[in-house]
Amino acid sequence: MNKTIVSLLLTLSMTGGAQAAGDAAAGQAKVVVCGACHGQDGNSPAANFPKLAGQGERYLLKQMQDIKAGNRVVLEMTGMLEPLSEQDMADVAAYYASQKMSVGAADPALVSRGEDLFRGGKLAEGMPACIGCHLPNGAGLAAAGYPHLGGQHADYIAKQLTDFREGNRSNDGDSMVMRDIAAKLSNKDIEALSSYVQGLH
Ligand code: HEC
Ligand code: HEC
Repeated sequence: MNKTIVSLLLTLSMTGGAQAAGDAAAGQAKVVVCGACHGQDGNSPAANFPKLAGQGERYLLKQMQDIKAGNRVVLEMTGMLEPLSEQDMADVAAYYASQKMSVGAADPALVSRGEDLFRGGKLAEGMPACIGCHLPNGAGLAAAGYPHLGGQHADYIAKQLTDFREGNRSNDGDSMVMRDIAAKLSNKDIEALSSYVQGLH
């Protein structure tokens, strides 16, 4: 291998591939149609439509790519990402990432169970704590593509955990990280975690 190729490969592995940098200002002009469900600033008013405001840029871009390619099925969005190029999606991701996710409230009756699971996992069953990747305040790790959860609608979170558990959402990679974790969650666990996450900030 010659030196040029080696340094090119190094550059690619450090930047995570040749990825267009998003322009938040350009992105704002491309989300008009999205606002009907996700809210103009990305804080959706409806509990079954996820908030996108303050979500990590890398995670947002990956979800748009997955939805567009059919690797994650979102019937409500059928055809909507067709007109968007890779650059458009990068701009949209940068725009939503620059906004701030609003926070909801947790059901006081569910907080203690939700918090125990979120912070402690289920050691006996080998299920890791959520904070390891989504952080104690639910902010996630944007650079790693670990999504921001804090403040997200409980109904939406519950649907995702159920979808991962049932295999209806399978875009969490070959490591199946979320499918493995969700497999160890009961319906009551999911209810408690989702409520806890909605009030987390
Ligand atoms: C008709 C309603 C609707 C419209 C319009 C819409 N979406 Fe969505 N979107 C949804 C729903 C519903 C989901 C979540 C589906 C599920 O439960 O998995 C979603 C999920 C997403 C997600 C994944 C969020 C996450 O946390 O994983 C992204 C990113 C997204 N939409 C971007 C967009 C963009 C960009 C547009 C505009 C081009 C758009 N959506 C337009 C309904 C809509
Ligand atoms: C080892 C790291 C890791 C751990 C531990 C982890 N997650 Fe995740 N989680 C991820 C990654 C990575 C994704 C994004 C997968 C993708 O790209 O679609 C994700 C996605 C999610 C989503 C979907 C978010 C959205 O906006 O659609 C939810 C909800 C979630 N995790 C909840 C949890 C909960 C609750 C726990 C603890 C019970 C947990 N996670 C533990 C890494 C982790």
